[in-house]
Amino acid sequence: MTCHIHPSILSADFSRLGEELKAISSADAAHIDVMDGHFVPNLTWGLPVVKRLKEVSPVPFDVHLMIEEADRWAPAYAQVGCESVTFHAEAATAPIKLARTLRESGAQAGMALRPATGVEPYLDMLTELDMLLIMTVEPGFGGQPFLDLTLPKIRRAAAAIEGSGADLVLQVDGGITTETILRAAEAGATCFVAGSSVYGADDIPAAIAGLRRAASLSPQA
Ligand code: DX5
Ligand code: ZN
Repeated sequence: MTCHIHPSILSADFSRLGEELKAISSADAAHIDVMDGHFVPNLTWGLPVVKRLKEVSPVPFDVHLMIEEADRWAPAYAQVGCESVTFHAEAATAPIKLARTLRESGAQAGMALRPATGVEPYLDMLTELDMLLIMTVEPGFGGQPFLDLTLPKIRRAAAAIEGSGADLVLQVDGGITTETILRAAEAGATCFVAGSSVYGADDIPAAIAGLRRAASLSPQA
């Protein structure tokens, strides 16, 4: 199993975002949480900020859109060169059409599910996606504890992905630490978003390496 570590800059120092991106150059991508204050009760940044940060980043961008009207706003993030754009299933009117538009715009298409959203209604569209994100906390804030109740869904999603033959990354986001990453990896996740456990560490490269090491201890690895 190839394990991907995507630090979330939601827990970075917002006055030094350029430097905070350089600090994660050993990661596989930077996870960029876009929040609109409607889909989630928090507000971060929008397209102009993401576009400028992208220009100075040493790593690809994995954009996680926690916004309403995803069909309308998501394609622009692909058009400015973000390598991966993830919309929420709960916020998309036409998720298949949107995933196709993202791919046509040159990005990888990701779809996210809140903890209480089932994966079953979406199994037939797995081949339209490059990444499935299973939220392991309620989206909106960093620093929340990992919800173990999401583990059965991660297992079901991993089995469905294997059965579909699709080349799909299974991402988890929320409460990932060197302890919880093991359970998520055992359940079948292959890509791990980590905000506070990376940016809250004194040594950021060591924290990234520690997560990689912990994920590789899983029997799935
Ligand atoms: C939460 C965001 C996460 C957040 C994770 O809504 O989607 O990406 O930054 O933060 P931690 O790792 O601290 O739970
Ligand atoms: Zn996120």
